[in-house]
Amino acid sequence: MADFIDFIQQVKRANDIVDVIGSYIEVKQRGQNHWARCPFHGEKTPSFSISRKGQFYKCFGCGESGDVITFVEKYESCSMMEALEILAKRVNMKMPETAMQKQDSQLDAKRKLREKHLEILKATAVFYYKNLYAPQGKHALDYLHKRGFSAETIKRFGFGYSPNQEMLPSYLQKNGYSLADCVSAGVLQQSARGTYFDALFGRLIVPIFDINNKVIAFGGRALSEQQAKYGKYKNTSETPLFVKNRNLYGINVAKQQKQQANLPHVLVVEGYMDVIALYQAGVMQSVASMGTSLTEQQAKLISRLSDTVYICYDGDAAGQKATIRGMDILAKEGLDVKVMSVPDNQDPDEYVKKHGVDAFNNLLQQALPLADYKLKVLEQAFPLTGNQAQRNSNLAKYVKGAVIMLQQLDDVAQARYVTVVSKITGYSEEYLRRKLAQGQASAVIEQPTYDSTSSYDKALNYILACLLNNMPFAHLTQVPDTDKRFYSVMFNYVLDCQAKGQAPSVDMMFTLCPEADDGLHQAILQPQFSEETLQSDQAYYQDCVNYVEETRLKNQRNQLNAQLKTATDEQATQIIQQIQQLNEKLNKLNG
Ligand code: UTP
Ligand code: MN
Repeated sequence: MADFIDFIQQVKRANDIVDVIGSYIEVKQRGQNHWARCPFHGEKTPSFSISRKGQFYKCFGCGESGDVITFVEKYESCSMMEALEILAKRVNMKMPETAMQKQDSQLDAKRKLREKHLEILKATAVFYYKNLYAPQGKHALDYLHKRGFSAETIKRFGFGYSPNQEMLPSYLQKNGYSLADCVSAGVLQQSARGTYFDALFGRLIVPIFDINNKVIAFGGRALSEQQAKYGKYKNTSETPLFVKNRNLYGINVAKQQKQQANLPHVLVVEGYMDVIALYQAGVMQSVASMGTSLTEQQAKLISRLSDTVYICYDGDAAGQKATIRGMDILAKEGLDVKVMSVPDNQDPDEYVKKHGVDAFNNLLQQALPLADYKLKVLEQAFPLTGNQAQRNSNLAKYVKGAVIMLQQLDDVAQARYVTVVSKITGYSEEYLRRKLAQGQASAVIEQPTYDSTSSYDKALNYILACLLNNMPFAHLTQVPDTDKRFYSVMFNYVLDCQAKGQAPSVDMMFTLCPEADDGLHQAILQPQFSEETLQSDQAYYQDCVNYVEETRLKNQRNQLNAQLKTATDEQATQIIQQIQQLNEKLNKLNG
């Protein structure tokens, strides 16, 4: 692991943050720092500052901060490992075989097969696309035109056609691919007789791309009633590359959109055609769940692109349990979820073609926050109207459902919606809160413990800032008491650097603690912790160190006092001695 951290450090050293960011967006130098227009929120004047010395960036507009790796992660919407790989490649470094890649030969084989599959899928996509414009493909092309898709859209989404069962296998074979590989890539199937065939033949082909714009599968839409009997859409079988519920159709387009402009939200629709029709109408950030209920992996994919998501399913589907579960999964991933309703059970494709994009955007404006939407669904299921008896029976069910909904909200939203539910039902807020508390007693709810105002953590922040900025007077002798992983990791890192005679650097906090509460990263980067101010106040540093030491000694004393309660006489004598020693040390510190 230590080797791997070393590797990360080497990659970072070789990739100057100003150069890397400058290769993606325009960067200008002003004073000591470099500035750019923040790629993570829309802005006209640059408030995104990059420090060459500290090798970190920070946006004064939206608060985003990070190092060269998190920048690539966010800009490319990729994982930390992928970002590292991009940066390593940039400077011709090879990714090491890490502990995680122990079975490297096996892994290598997997990677090779993956690359082969991608090649086969790409060749297949080219084949399909060409056939759409061949004479045999005319009725498929006509179908697309009839549905109103422009030549540009057809090209952008790579629609295609498969004339018959045999052409694809012979084409692929001619191009040097083994038919067995084509089967494992998902593009061919083998019959009981052993012959290879294209299961999507006769259908309109919709290539499915991953977030990096690589074809990973195909959907085939029926062009006749006869075909539709076997499914309106048929997909290539699931393969290592294509796991349906991990992908979202259109994610590649949304990602590109994010790179060109800021993505205020992502829109989730049900079908391929919805994504494509919306794109043509100018709504370029929609993705399709491909008819299945949303999964955690899909939610993660979305959260890489934006923190707000609109769900736009047709009326039928939206109220269903599976759909609501999907929305809960999105909310759990920290996304702000809003639900759109399209009238008359139309899908977005139909709606936008009939009423235009402005009308569609109006619907978007009227979308309900998830909590309001759930209340609406509840009310549809248990209408609070009718005669007294009906109303009372529904009311009880409604409240039960509402309490479950309230339990999933954070404190602030909960307080707000308790009032809402109380108004709707006539039950007192007090009663609802009691119901909530009963529910919560059984489920332990974890509360974040970070308190940015605790004076102890403030002292830790100051000490850490001095150490990471290499103030000559700052030296660490031991890791301070703390229950926060961020501090224990970072102080251990400093100790490690000191032992190796290396200078610690502030940007490493993004590598070692990428998941840290943003407040902690920010706390270390705050303007008061500029080198000049840290340098000028050695006395304050010493105060902080003393305070931390005092806390450590007091913690020890508390522990000993606790032990004293259950100690034997003999043990007690020893413990009391230790307590006295601690008291002396404490007196010295304060004296
Ligand atoms: P829809 O029936 O809403 O598809 O199914 P659509 O995109 O609106 O298609 P058109 O407009 O009729 O051409 C939603 C999604 O469910 C999956 C597909 O991914 C589709 O886009 N699906 C649907 C299947 O996989 N198989 C089917 O038989 C039907
Ligand atoms: Mn449709």
